[in-house]
Amino acid sequence: MTQKDLPEVLAIERASFPNPWHETTFEGEIQNEGISFPLVAGHRTDKKIIGYILFWKIKDEIQINNIAVHRDFRRRGVAEAMMQDVLASAHREGVVFASLEVRSSNKPARTFYEKLGFKLIGIRKDYYSNPPEDALVLGLNVAS
Ligand SMILES: CC(C)(COP(=O)(O)OP(=O)(O)OC[C@H]1O[C@@H](n2cnc3c(N)ncnc32)[C@H](O)[C@@H]1OP(=O)(O)O)[C@@H](O)C(=O)NCCC(=O)NCCS
Repeated sequence: MTQKDLPEVLAIERASFPNPWHETTFEGEIQNEGISFPLVAGHRTDKKIIGYILFWKIKDEIQINNIAVHRDFRRRGVAEAMMQDVLASAHREGVVFASLEVRSSNKPARTFYEKLGFKLIGIRKDYYSNPPEDALVLGLNVAS
């Protein structure tokens, strides 16, 4: 992800979340080199952005901080491909654990993470606003 990708990324973000990240948040992540890894998935032919994933890598752990797919391209394996790609390259670099947070009501995302093997490791009460909701903290042993 680069600055020029942000209009497309923000359109997906705003269509995907009740509390979308602001442009400045993405800019900060792009600038946070070495810690933050914001990646986009492009359409095979027209190169339009159809999804993105953003994670932090700290020592031997990664934290998935954002993932979304354009509504028109969901249920085609885009998110799974992005996540498998991230997990495989993280594994090659010695990462042993991945974690993330998800709204408890976000059934599609929960099913997605479950398919990938993520397990519940904690609950953050009232973590989200608009609407207020608990965050489920999920974790995955990357090496296993
Ligand atoms: C969650 C999200 C990223 C999934 O993206 P996607 O590209 O459609 O997911 P995939 O096609 O790779 O699906 C992989 C698996 O996830 C599960 N899944 C994905 N969407 C699902 C849905 N709407 N309902 C039930 N299961 C779903 C299925 O197990 C699916 O495998 P299958 O198609 O073989 O059944 C997408 O729905 C999205 O952008 N949602 C809005 C943003 C969001 O909630 N992000 C997560 C924040 S924690």
